[in-house]
Amino acid sequence: MKRILTGITPSGYPHLGNYIGAIKPSLDLLDEKCESFLFIADLHAVIKVSDPDQLKELSHGITMAWLASGLDPEKTNIYRQSDIPEITELTWILSCVAEKGLLNRAHAYKAALDANNESGKKDPDEGINVGLFSYPLLMASDILMPNATHVPVGKDQQQHLEITRDIAEKFNRKYGDFFNIPEAVIQKDMTVLGVDGRKMSKSYNNIIPMLGSEKELRKSVMKIVTNSQEPGEVKDWKNNTLFSIYSSFASKNEIEDMKRMYEEGIGWGDAKQKVFEELNQLLQPIRENYAELNSRKDHIDEILREGASKVRKDTVPAIREIKKLIGINNL
Ligand code: TRP
Repeated sequence: MKRILTGITPSGYPHLGNYIGAIKPSLDLLDEKCESFLFIADLHAVIKVSDPDQLKELSHGITMAWLASGLDPEKTNIYRQSDIPEITELTWILSCVAEKGLLNRAHAYKAALDANNESGKKDPDEGINVGLFSYPLLMASDILMPNATHVPVGKDQQQHLEITRDIAEKFNRKYGDFFNIPEAVIQKDMTVLGVDGRKMSKSYNNIIPMLGSEKELRKSVMKIVTNSQEPGEVKDWKNNTLFSIYSSFASKNEIEDMKRMYEEGIGWGDAKQKVFEELNQLLQPIRENYAELNSRKDHIDEILREGASKVRKDTVPAIREIKKLIGINNL
């Protein structure tokens, strides 16, 4: 049976880009015939988030965003990475199998080195924590511990999947076939632009919130950059931020309608109003589910606890097997 697994790192509040790019595709992929594992990669977040209260809140935020978007905890295992200690245990074992050179080549680490080199730091490793360096190992454990077969991810994570496969193959060669060699399911690029026209990202402060109030939603849509063209002037929908954001969630017909309106010279105010209304229609039911969930926070903890305990029914015996393979018996 297919075992689909993917994680989201809770390093920011859920925004429209997360919904379109990660949350919705992870749910669209699931069907009756697969087992699914969707988890909050809170240990990965520790690399960046150093405020304990914030980490707690962000982890809750992603959980609620998933549940509010329709994830059914009866059908899908939803859990926090940190509640499965077998994952971190496996990370160490994998670190003794993986070559350091493999991690030297990982994009995130290389980008941090490049940034240091560019700013003329004496030691290119300055300020880079070991967690960032070994990030791909923890990710490999996330995937291999429940023996996932399919991992839906964005293109930016493809290299991490290659690293995972490499490590799994090496382990299997050394100790005997144990791990599935997981396949990446690369999602088509669904990068959503932020209100300033750059990629939507909390670090650019340009997000459209996913779970905010209607008023907040309207405010952020009204902030989307346009130009000084007057109503009545023909507008170019190519390379236009408002149009691009609309296209990321609207249907084909709606997109065609909007193109026509641009060509007929719709005013920016009216165009924004239309984007707001359609977006509000999409997010309103999710917002309502969220409000309901938010009023019963201990219920969320209960769901996560149950999710972890279901997953551990597999991972506890599996780590015992793995340790036996490497020569550490249960006493
Ligand atoms: N690294 C992923 C991201 O930042 C999140 C993640 C952690 C993940 N562990 C995973 C994704 C395992 C898929 C499988 O988007």
